[in-house]
Amino acid sequence: MGDILLSIRGLKVYYYTLTGPVRAVDNVSMDVYKGDWVSVVGESGSGKSTLALAIMGLVPPPGRVVGGSIVLDGIDLTRLEREELRKIRGSMIGMVFQDPMTALDPLRKVGDQIADVYLEHGVTDDREEARMMAREALEAVGVPGDRVEYYPHQLSGGQRQRVLIAAAIALKPKLLIADEPTTALDVIVQAKIMDLIDELRRKMGMSVLLITHDIALAAERSDRIAVMYAGKLVEYGRVDEIVEDPLHPYTEALLASAPDLWGPREIKGIPGNPPDLRDPPTGCPFHPRCPLAKPVCREKEPRVTIINGRVVACHLHG
Ligand SMILES: Nc1ncnc2c1ncn2[C@@H]1O[C@H](COP(=O)(O)OP(=O)(O)OP(=O)(O)O)[C@@H](O)[C@H]1O
Ligand code: SF4
Ligand SMILES: [Mg+2]
Repeated sequence: MGDILLSIRGLKVYYYTLTGPVRAVDNVSMDVYKGDWVSVVGESGSGKSTLALAIMGLVPPPGRVVGGSIVLDGIDLTRLEREELRKIRGSMIGMVFQDPMTALDPLRKVGDQIADVYLEHGVTDDREEARMMAREALEAVGVPGDRVEYYPHQLSGGQRQRVLIAAAIALKPKLLIADEPTTALDVIVQAKIMDLIDELRRKMGMSVLLITHDIALAAERSDRIAVMYAGKLVEYGRVDEIVEDPLHPYTEALLASAPDLWGPREIKGIPGNPPDLRDPPTGCPFHPRCPLAKPVCREKEPRVTIINGRVVACHLHG
């Protein structure tokens, strides 16, 4: 185990909608080690993106961080003013979103958009120099330097995603957060983008937080996997332990529902749907769908327990 880069404790992020608060992230605690690749997995609506946005300080209204702390390299991000946070974004944390088309300005050349990062963070105040840096940054992510003159629509989906990665890592952040960065791409391009992220991580010693609904992808790439269900962290641990011996029934169900990477296996869907986070079930939020539920599961929420360094929240353990 190395040094901790990011330490999240008791984080709560709620969206205050007209029909009541949505507890999108509810009491989540986890650590990310320096240089580690952590994947956050879970079904749609489990709070993965909200967790990522909270780390970036970008939770949109009506959402709000209502409790807990997010400590990055000794700094509690939840206590920073907007301007301080803006500086940390980009310089210490880079972020890549799912859809490069919405993240890029369609009317501006990609080189200018990467150059903005250097200008905004005061690396240089000379636009020409910033453009040169953008060219180098593009080459570093495997896009020919002359593409600085291209508009987003003139690039392929994979190249656009590389442009976003170039912008995200321009200032050599310590943490790269990628939220479903390859969902819109075909599997071959997806693998190449994942290879690129891994190569950059190793070269720069950066940590990666990958948000994905694809547990097979997570299993292939990560050092650690965090499993979210209904806004809660239900299991967190080393990838080999999670894949070979999942402790939480939901993790087991997710693994069983994934196309198998390690030999033929029957693929099973998870019956039922994730709960409405405005009115989550009592006790363990997974109990209506859990094949191993006991009477206590309906009544009492399981505590987060640490067993041999593994984190799990289930009445079957601890
Ligand atoms: N702006 C918003 N206003 C109100 N509720 C929101 C908002 N954004 C997200 N939510 C709710 O918060 C919960 C968590 O959403 P979030 O987008 O974090 O999940 P996710 O795990 O990223 O899902 P997906 O896999 O579909 O991207 C969901 O119930 C969602 O409906
Ligand atoms: S606490 Fe109970 S319902 Fe929840 S996952 Fe564990 S066994 Fe299933
Ligand atoms: Mg999401």
